[in-house]
Amino acid sequence: MTYPIVAYGDPVLKKRAEEIENGTDLKELVENMFETMHNAQGIGLAAPQIGKSIRLFVIDGAALEEEDMMDFKRVFVNPVILEEFDEEWAFEEGCLSIPTIRENVSRNSKLKIKYLDENWNEHEEEFDGMKARIIQHEYDHIEGILFIDHLSSFKKRLLKGKLTNISKGNVSVDYRMKFPLRK
Ligand code: NI
Repeated sequence: MTYPIVAYGDPVLKKRAEEIENGTDLKELVENMFETMHNAQGIGLAAPQIGKSIRLFVIDGAALEEEDMMDFKRVFVNPVILEEFDEEWAFEEGCLSIPTIRENVSRNSKLKIKYLDENWNEHEEEFDGMKARIIQHEYDHIEGILFIDHLSSFKKRLLKGKLTNISKGNVSVDYRMKFPLRK
């Protein structure tokens, strides 16, 4: 089953998401999140993007069709980024909740993260490059931060009209979305 993806302008995307109680059965939700993400050709999806303000996101790098991303499939429950380090690099990001907009965002190239998976097993791992970037983008989502929040106010002002149109549903997408300002 797929969920509609919440579009820019919905307050759920601006909220800091809640911790999930240890032991909660997440199997079905996680499966549906992967299905929703794959259906939209995404590589990451955070729970707030399907309207659930909880600290959970899923990633599957396979859609990038790059060798080192093929096995990068993870479920992050109640994650904590312990450290972000190394030099910053810019990369053009996009987001399933903000279709048609892509902008350069600077982020640290490495991070260390502690998280649980859907079976409540604990992990601590280091990631770099594109893997770290996807994690940082998704982690931002559960903090109520969108990639466009990293842009200069000048850049944001230039995007304002486009963003309003996205909130209203005046945008062409080939996956199911929920638009906060659609009449
Ligand atoms: Ni996103």
